[in-house]
Amino acid sequence: MEADILRILISREALQARVSELGAQISADYAGRDLFLVAVLKGSVVFLADLMRAISILHRIDFMATSSYGASTQSTGVVQILKDLEESIEGQNVLIVEDIIDSGHTLAYLRRLLLARNPASLCICSLLDKKERRESDVPVDYIGFSIPNEFVVGYGLDFNEMYRNLPFIGVLKPEKYRV
Ligand code: IMP
Ligand code: MG
Repeated sequence: MEADILRILISREALQARVSELGAQISADYAGRDLFLVAVLKGSVVFLADLMRAISILHRIDFMATSSYGASTQSTGVVQILKDLEESIEGQNVLIVEDIIDSGHTLAYLRRLLLARNPASLCICSLLDKKERRESDVPVDYIGFSIPNEFVVGYGLDFNEMYRNLPFIGVLKPEKYRV
């Protein structure tokens, strides 16, 4: 599996250090308030698992699933809800937890959808940000790392449902996804 990786972009140690910082910052920012983490399946599960343990205040979690890229590496701009939240977020301080913001279509759509349910507040935390790819303007409150426009896998991120278990963020060899 690691032979399919061109190079490591963010090491396991760097991920751990940054996730700890994000957890501390979120804990301070939400101190004294209810916090509701909404993770977007499946890419954010590894990040969520580490982030929630770096958050020292009481909070709840829930999951949503949106349509994915399938075997392509391009966003279609069409977002479909495959799994919705189990609980109401009305009056809650919601923090969306995402693996990566690329075109921004997914988060822009989710943000509109969740805002319509009247949360007390709605913020976004994304582990990775590919700024130069942005097509939908969406405010991101917490960003782990800004990365260049390369297709990355690992730490939850997949290509064709694989490589999620790599403990680092790596750039996939182009011949692995070129069709
Ligand atoms: P957006 O709607 O274009 O912002 O796409 C967001 C989603 O696309 C992310 O949640 C990922 O699932 C997927 N994605 C975007 N870029 C990458 C990448 O480099 N590697 C793996 N998945 C990606
Ligand atoms: Mg995703």
